[in-house]
Amino acid sequence: MSLPLADGANDDRGSRPVKIIQDRTNSRSTIAQATETIAGGVGSAFRMFAHPLVADRAKGSRLWDIDGNEYVDLLMGAGPLILGHAPDVVAEAVVAQIHKGTHFAVSCELESIASKALVDLVPCLELVRFNCSGSEAVHNCLRVARAFTGRSKVVKFEGHFHGTVDDVYVSVRPPFAAGLPHAPWPIRQNAGQPQNVTENIIVLPWNDVQALERTLRFRAHEVAAVVTEPVMYNNAGILPEEGYLSAIREITQRYEVLLVFDEIITGFRLALGGAQQFYGVTPDLCMLGKALGAGYPISAFGGRRDIMEIAAATHYGTFNANPMCLAAVVATLEELSRDDSAALRHTHEVGERLRDGLNRLFSAHDFPMQAHGNGAVFFVTSPPLVLRDYRDVLNLDNSAMHKFHAEMMSRGVLFVPNGRMMLSTAHGDNDVDTVLAAAEDVIGKW
Ligand SMILES: Cc1ncc(COP(=O)(O)O)c(C=O)c1O
Repeated sequence: MSLPLADGANDDRGSRPVKIIQDRTNSRSTIAQATETIAGGVGSAFRMFAHPLVADRAKGSRLWDIDGNEYVDLLMGAGPLILGHAPDVVAEAVVAQIHKGTHFAVSCELESIASKALVDLVPCLELVRFNCSGSEAVHNCLRVARAFTGRSKVVKFEGHFHGTVDDVYVSVRPPFAAGLPHAPWPIRQNAGQPQNVTENIIVLPWNDVQALERTLRFRAHEVAAVVTEPVMYNNAGILPEEGYLSAIREITQRYEVLLVFDEIITGFRLALGGAQQFYGVTPDLCMLGKALGAGYPISAFGGRRDIMEIAAATHYGTFNANPMCLAAVVATLEELSRDDSAALRHTHEVGERLRDGLNRLFSAHDFPMQAHGNGAVFFVTSPPLVLRDYRDVLNLDNSAMHKFHAEMMSRGVLFVPNGRMMLSTAHGDNDVDTVLAAAEDVIGKW
């Protein structure tokens, strides 16, 4: 059955032979030149892909590089582009606001409109505050949690990423099994992080109810919060086991420790109300970012009124609640809410078709990969293994994944090099067909 195309999706279904991209000369020379003035030639270490790629323009589900090559984009700006590239409704709202003023540092009406929309959509939100990046929202949210409880330590899970603030930039992707599986060592992620940064972090294995129970039984008096990605979307896309999120909700409540969901990937993607709505588990606080502004740099944190009241007098920032970005938020949430979230449902359906199509190809060709996760964001990993926590990620074959990524990219398919594929409302059947044809070609020539 053919799915309907969303606005912005290209209708060229069924007619596309697999083309191998031969020429990235302009991309290569631009990156080479950029290394003279930009550290590493790219603006974020995340952008050090296997092959140099310099974007020229993008619309809907497609991106073109400066050599004129076209890509089906499943990278989606690392998550924010929930409405695809350059959605007209958002661009119009932002341009209208640019003419009214780009920055005030006093309140504007859009701020209360956007916050009301958020509070109406996301279950845990009673009060919110806006920031620019996800990392900032994490930083401020955990500070509020510490101030409210008067405790310093935070429990985070091995393999989860909560941005690059020193505090929690710990045990994100340790390259080896650090410590016993039930009691991982906290490992600083980057050179330059102070040694004592790990003093306030307790790292635990995810999907392990007993590990959290045991820790809080003895240490709850020093723990402000337990922070978790509701799905391990920064490492292999591991899903919470049945009942896990509600179990950690119950344990944190019992020990009077705050539960914080990092919904920076899951927000407005798994469901309009985020993973907390999708899984029916309400945390005390959460952070939102990425899809919130559909490509404009804005994030938010919020939750229970009694906790968030602390932010009233302690949360600062020149660019907080920037009016251009708020215009993007209001337009994005309106678009996603229309017709009982029809656009998001379409995204899930298209993504499920792609995920299932990839799995059919993998099994038909006895190819050692699996596609797993939700329709709006899923992972391809190799070989097919049961993935429960970060230690299982260490058993994955990174070289096979990198080869698959490079081969797909040279056939015009972009996604995160670790296998993460993200859909938007602009993706349609034609994109699915193009990606599946590329994958079949890669597998056939492996
Ligand atoms: C779950 C999660 N939290 C926090 C962040 C940090 O967001 P930002 O890169 O906007 O600072 C990210 C970024 O990828 C993320 O995936």
